[in-house]
Amino acid sequence: MVSGVDPESYKSSLRKFASGITIVTVASNGDVHGMTATSFASVSLDPPLILVSLEKRSHTRNLVLASRSFAVNVLDANQESLARDFAKRGEKIFSGIECRRSASGAPLIAGCLAWLECDITDVVPGGDHDVVIAKVVASETRDGVPLIYYERAYRVLEQSANPQSPAAPPE
Ligand SMILES: Cc1cc2nc3c(=O)[nH]c(=O)nc-3n(C[C@H](O)[C@H](O)[C@H](O)COP(=O)(O)O)c2cc1C
Repeated sequence: MVSGVDPESYKSSLRKFASGITIVTVASNGDVHGMTATSFASVSLDPPLILVSLEKRSHTRNLVLASRSFAVNVLDANQESLARDFAKRGEKIFSGIECRRSASGAPLIAGCLAWLECDITDVVPGGDHDVVIAKVVASETRDGVPLIYYERAYRVLEQSANPQSPAAPPE
């Protein structure tokens, strides 16, 4: 139970969870924006639903709720500088970043490992964040090495001696 937990202990526990890194992008009323987010998770296979948890005061959250559509760009190990740039508040500079556009106009950043185009189905308030649940309407992948976030640092996945051994979820 979180209630009553020591805030530092809570944050320390969260830092023990290694994750991939995404940039959530959106186009709304001619404005193109995005933010670095690690809160991306799968929700359902059928229908294909994912979630991202967006801070209520973030500009990305406001545009995502206005647009009802957004894209999730899963970052490659070569894209640490993008992760850093998109974690800053304020205007995000897309000029100089090679992008395609999703059907909704959200930037799909070149060189990512995966791109998911998403339409919102539900928004669930969660404290200082909104949990945005969305249907994946298109997705693509490419091969590469993922960028990882762990203990407040960007990292690269260490190659397993036997990469075939990890348990896989049922198809
Ligand atoms: C590694 C990392 C992961 C982050 N994940 C999230 C996240 O899942 N949700 C969120 O709301 N903010 C997250 N942030 C913070 C946002 O990227 C940051 O607040 C950003 O400046 C918001 O930009 P905006 O207000 O222009 O939308 C993360 C930051 C870092 C460095």
